[in-house]
Amino acid sequence: MVKSPSFTCNACGAVHSKWSGRCDACGAWNSIVEEAPLSAGPARKSLGGKRGTRIALSSLSAEEMPPPRTRSGLAELDRVLGGGLVPASAILVGGDPGIGKSTLLLQAAASFARAGLKAIYVSGEEASAQVRMRARRLGLADAPVQLAAETNLRDILTTLENERPDIAIIDSIQTMWADHVESAPGSVAQVRAAAHELTTFAKRRGLSVVLVGHVTKEGQIAGPRVIEHMVDTVLYFEGERGHQFRILRAVKNRFGPADEIGVFEMTGEGLREVTNPSALFLSERDNPAPGAVVFAGIEGTRPVLCEFQALVAPSPHAQARRTVVGWDGGRLAMILAVLEARCGIPFAGLDVYLNVAGGMKIQEPAADLAVACALLSAREDVALPSDTVVFGEISLSGALRPVSQTENRLKEAQKLGFTKAIAPSGSKAGTQTGLEMQKIPDLVTVVGDIFGAG
Ligand code: TYD
Ligand code: MG
Repeated sequence: MVKSPSFTCNACGAVHSKWSGRCDACGAWNSIVEEAPLSAGPARKSLGGKRGTRIALSSLSAEEMPPPRTRSGLAELDRVLGGGLVPASAILVGGDPGIGKSTLLLQAAASFARAGLKAIYVSGEEASAQVRMRARRLGLADAPVQLAAETNLRDILTTLENERPDIAIIDSIQTMWADHVESAPGSVAQVRAAAHELTTFAKRRGLSVVLVGHVTKEGQIAGPRVIEHMVDTVLYFEGERGHQFRILRAVKNRFGPADEIGVFEMTGEGLREVTNPSALFLSERDNPAPGAVVFAGIEGTRPVLCEFQALVAPSPHAQARRTVVGWDGGRLAMILAVLEARCGIPFAGLDVYLNVAGGMKIQEPAADLAVACALLSAREDVALPSDTVVFGEISLSGALRPVSQTENRLKEAQKLGFTKAIAPSGSKAGTQTGLEMQKIPDLVTVVGDIFGAG
């Protein structure tokens, strides 16, 4: 039987039976490429009569020690890793080109090396001189990191085998070239093969490998999504180009909680850790302005306060605009629909802009109420008092639902000098903290009692 070729999306890794201009799975354009069929060798047809060796089985109750961890000394990185680096693990660090991945990992390599680990940094993108120059600028030139500029995977693996480092950083996986695979570097097949070789090598030899992956929009090279399933930990480095804040987010972690974030600031001397992100995200805040609402959120295990800003203005266009930065566009549409259908607040003919200050990306549904308040505040031109935080989920009926970790949200707000909270009825806690809680059953009450509209 001749195996037909398969078509893989470079952006999300979905496999299709035929080529098309747009990937049905992720919606990316021009990202589908043909992949050579897997060789139909005898091993693929069936295992045949040859017997394998028997595997030792164990029970679920067998004693397991927590994995030993090494801290880098970069507290924000250690937090995202779940408390430090686990040996024999593979970590993927994805992000847009130019966001600061190489900077972060050079700093991490230097930190680990200073902590006594043997660290190797392999750059497939920059010459050693360039990396050295950056290290000097970051004040890391004295750190005992070993450096190589190489893309040949076979040579890299041989070197790692001889050098036996504790941690190897591969910057980036898309530049690596495995000579046993026939396609070009950056293709799905190459990226997968290189990632597979490096992760299995890490498990076998007990070292940690960190793979850098560029997020690609055009689909010319395979994005980090296609290897997410192979690695233990997937971190994404996010941020807006124009902002100095960078967020390292764990989207998958076999050794710790997912959704944990680390916050950094990009400065002239590299990335600086931000230990109190709430203070940072609110630092640009001045007088209470219509449309600005402070949301008491939770990112991973940590409460983070940030500001939603909305602008609502008559639209000169036939179709009114909805522009969102840092929040989900579909969720905004839902909240606008609930305001319109349940509270009688129309947004037809009005342009709506929604932004999360500081380049933060919020994913929690607990921000619904803060978004609704920002929209109402902008539309009615009524500013909320500047000492108030807001949180709560909105259901399609317009009812407000309590959210998790109310206590932590309130404590963080109090720490930063807030005195009032607007939250759903049924929210637990609130008595222990000194904050005055305004508990509200539904969105209609928000519209009437807080904004005097409807
Ligand atoms: P880089 O780490 O090369 O990004 P990536 O590896 O994700 O492509 O970072 C590139 C940007 O960071 C570049 O635009 C310059 C900026 N930068 C600073 O602002 N300060 C610094 O100290 C360094 C090293 C970089
Ligand atoms: Mg780089």
